[in-house]
Amino acid sequence: MRHIRDELFVFKESPLFEYRTSNNYFPVIGEGSHDARILFVGEAPGKNEALTGRPFCGAAGKFLTELIESIGLKREQVYITNIVKDRPPENRDPTPNEIELYAPFLDRQIDIIQPKVIATLGRYSMAYIMRHFDLDLELDAISKIHGKSFKANTSYGDIDIVTLYHPAAALYNGGMRETLKKDFQILKSYA
Ligand code: URA
Repeated sequence: MRHIRDELFVFKESPLFEYRTSNNYFPVIGEGSHDARILFVGEAPGKNEALTGRPFCGAAGKFLTELIESIGLKREQVYITNIVKDRPPENRDPTPNEIELYAPFLDRQIDIIQPKVIATLGRYSMAYIMRHFDLDLELDAISKIHGKSFKANTSYGDIDIVTLYHPAAALYNGGMRETLKKDFQILKSYA
């Protein structure tokens, strides 16, 4: 994990590197237990995250922490990261090129942590993780497959992929908020 952190600090190949350094932002590597059974994968850091170097530490993060606690876990017991480790300007969506550039860092984090379940937050991490684990045929709109669990094979054994809405999308949408709370309960069996 330390190597990943060191490499990301000097990741000049990224189109987001210049934006990060000129704003005195940090790359956001991830945080939590390296022995976590549950790995959460978000999209990309926002401003709060880039200023502190910590994932999900703004309003969406507060909601994510609440959801984690709703299944009887503490935030420190899971691992939380993003596909893209640097903030895109004005929180725009990450580009396919950025996802491709940063994904190998996420792949290495998965190999280190070896989680029993990868919970994707939002459609970008859902699409990346499902394709990465050869679940292309099961991939559909997030409105169709949120709250579902898919079996995946890894080099360290079978795991589950759970597809969830992004907490930021659900934050100010009452219906989606309730759906995310309900979908989250699927993770209880891994807690
Ligand atoms: N949204 C994300 O996808 N990741 C964060 O770390 C914060 C907000």
